[in-house]
Amino acid sequence: MKFENKRAAGIKSSPSMAIAMVAKKLAAEGHDIIDLSLGEPDFEPPAHVAEAACEAIRMGRVRYGVPAGMESLRQAIVGKFKTENDLDYTVDEITVANGAKQILFDVFLATLEPGDEVIIPTPCWVSYGDIVSLHGGEPVYINCGPDAGFKLTAEKLEAAITPKTRWLMLNSPSNPTGAIYTADEYRALAGVLERHSHVLVVSDEIYEHILLKGVPFASFGLACPELRERTLIVNGVSKAYAMTGWRVGYAAGPKALIAALNKMQSQSVSSVSTVAQAAALAAITGDQAFVGKAAETFANRAKIIAEHLGKIEGLDFIPPDGAFYAFIGVERLLGKKTAEGEIIADDTAFASHLLHRFGLSSVPGAAFGAPGFIRLSIAASDSELDGACARLATMVRSLEG
Ligand SMILES: Cc1ncc(COP(=O)(O)O)c(C=O)c1O
Repeated sequence: MKFENKRAAGIKSSPSMAIAMVAKKLAAEGHDIIDLSLGEPDFEPPAHVAEAACEAIRMGRVRYGVPAGMESLRQAIVGKFKTENDLDYTVDEITVANGAKQILFDVFLATLEPGDEVIIPTPCWVSYGDIVSLHGGEPVYINCGPDAGFKLTAEKLEAAITPKTRWLMLNSPSNPTGAIYTADEYRALAGVLERHSHVLVVSDEIYEHILLKGVPFASFGLACPELRERTLIVNGVSKAYAMTGWRVGYAAGPKALIAALNKMQSQSVSSVSTVAQAAALAAITGDQAFVGKAAETFANRAKIIAEHLGKIEGLDFIPPDGAFYAFIGVERLLGKKTAEGEIIADDTAFASHLLHRFGLSSVPGAAFGAPGFIRLSIAASDSELDGACARLATMVRSLEG
């Protein structure tokens, strides 16, 4: 019996989640697996976050919430945008959803007509394209390789815009490459967008605080104030506060767009769990020392991994400026043979061999629209990272031809 409609059948499950599930299954069967497939901090959120959630439960603040999110949380997010990004928003220009992922889901659900195009620079986060397709849109991928620092240029943007373009999807710091756009680079893109008033911008800034090498974060909103009325800034607590499982993301944008997103929420999930919202409020308004310390931890890990990878002949690696991933070029190793005589034809075969023969779980570049790479999460302990690099080095050494 066929259950899926065309739209559901036309997309795949999140590849990074699918790989993580295979890794978990292998580990449960007793295999020795280091799983660096998912982008998830490996430490707990600050203690006051859990305490705020417990307090909300104790006080009985567990009824339905409003679709836009608790007023107090939206006020706190207004404060966050002011103090951290120098951006002025009002409470009705803010919405709260079950993760940044649901914000994106709601955006494309609410705004795309069939065949509308969404420009997505690649390498890109695994879910952008499928969320667009699911809602009847056409992802238009633009390849932005290492020579361009994995970033979109004004020329490439200009060439990709058509009368059907609805959105430009930006993400900085980037998952998977760690690239960070400067304010000047954003302004160059804005110069193009000013000539195309029908194009809207989503700026996914969820890795804002994970800065690894002193390259500063620039918010698209601050760099391009002239585009304020057609920009949606997406962020959340998952990465900054190690709160991936709490499922709280938020967005700031023009009132009418936010109202449309709230309507999607009201007819789908109703609201984010009020307990999770209480926790997010504590995270955003509480002591921020955790955020800086977490970024320092990731920066140290990025150094460890860069040292190891630099010693492995055949890999191409540009250390990331932000986020917590190592995006590693394996192109020069493709076509080589394993000890069992199998040809490593592409990055998917590379990642599969690395997992099944050497016990290291990664995500192939193809999942990010960038074949020829693999991505390792560096959100893991120092010893896991040492072990992971040793396994990768052993695999690379074992290849012949
Ligand atoms: C670039 C990017 N955007 C959005 C998300 C979704 O985050 P959330 O946990 O807030 O749904 C992720 C998660 O990995 C991500 O990497």
